Amino acid sequence: VTTAAAPSAPITVHTPKQQPSTHWRGKDLLSLASLRPDDLRSLLARTHHYAQIANEPSTSTGDLRGRAVATMFFEDSTRTRTSFALAARRLGADVVDFSTASSSVNKGETLIDTALAVEAMGISAMVVRTRQSGGAASIAQAVRCPVINAGDGRHEHPTQGLLDAYTIARAHGRTADFDLSGLTVAIVGDIASSRVARSAIAALKPLGARVVCVGSPALAPSGLVSLGCEVTREFDPLLPQADAVMMLRIQFERHGEGAAAPGKGEAPRSASIPSIREYREFYGMTADRAARLKPGAIVMHPGPMNRGLEIDGEVAGGARSAVLRQVAHGVAARMAVLASICC
Ligand code: CP
Repeated sequence: VTTAAAPSAPITVHTPKQQPSTHWRGKDLLSLASLRPDDLRSLLARTHHYAQIANEPSTSTGDLRGRAVATMFFEDSTRTRTSFALAARRLGADVVDFSTASSSVNKGETLIDTALAVEAMGISAMVVRTRQSGGAASIAQAVRCPVINAGDGRHEHPTQGLLDAYTIARAHGRTADFDLSGLTVAIVGDIASSRVARSAIAALKPLGARVVCVGSPALAPSGLVSLGCEVTREFDPLLPQADAVMMLRIQFERHGEGAAAPGKGEAPRSASIPSIREYREFYGMTADRAARLKPGAIVMHPGPMNRGLEIDGEVAGGARSAVLRQVAHGVAARMAVLASICC
């Protein structure tokens, strides 16, 4: 990830106006389930504040001037890694992008020793993604600087949950108070593997939304009701009710040994997905299903997408799609979290 600004780019210093009066402040952000509803609203209000300027290349607020933020991704990422780097830079921080591909992790160094070494160089905050659930929490226990979880295994992806809640609130005119009561959000697909779903539920339920998880018993287990949501096997009856439909990627890499995404014309290698045709028939967001959504309903996907499996290309690029809005809001949400933790 290249984070350096073009040398000739003009730098605009934006003076933040009308910042929310109370801010959530914590040492780390490891999950949304640990936040109170007021903390969520405070972070969303701050996201709304930054959304006005987050995606302008010339933005430099100066809030984190003199600070250094390390992005440490022990698992692949496009959106989260890039948007955290942009968010930190647009707040005025230096960004150190730690790449596992060329690091001493490949010589057997542990995540904790790696984090301690990076911290020793004067880091103000670490953004951490790990394959293991609880990886960011383990690092947070070992270092003194704040740690932001950028996705840990199947556990949580808190900034994705924030940007998803913000996208729904904005699409439905709820940015004044982030009260989502009366809205129905369907989360569809591989919920069992999904840290995105877990963080979305942890944000949406306390804000008042009705959340319905949709999928087969293997992908949407009944135990999800313990998180406060409903669970159904039937997608079609929900279409006219939903205000937002969050499609999830089938995460073949988390389906156990031997599981793999299908090659062109092949059957998927996963006990949970017998065939692509059958999966699309029951749970795919096809153009036909998108047409049965009520006016104003949005279709979301955190990315990366398996086009033609959980979502059809024409829906992903269609009028109801909020996919790129989600990505754009990610920069503002990450600015809000970094500013709340570091300032
Ligand atoms: N949504 C998300 O986490 O995407 P990346 O894996 O590309 O960061």
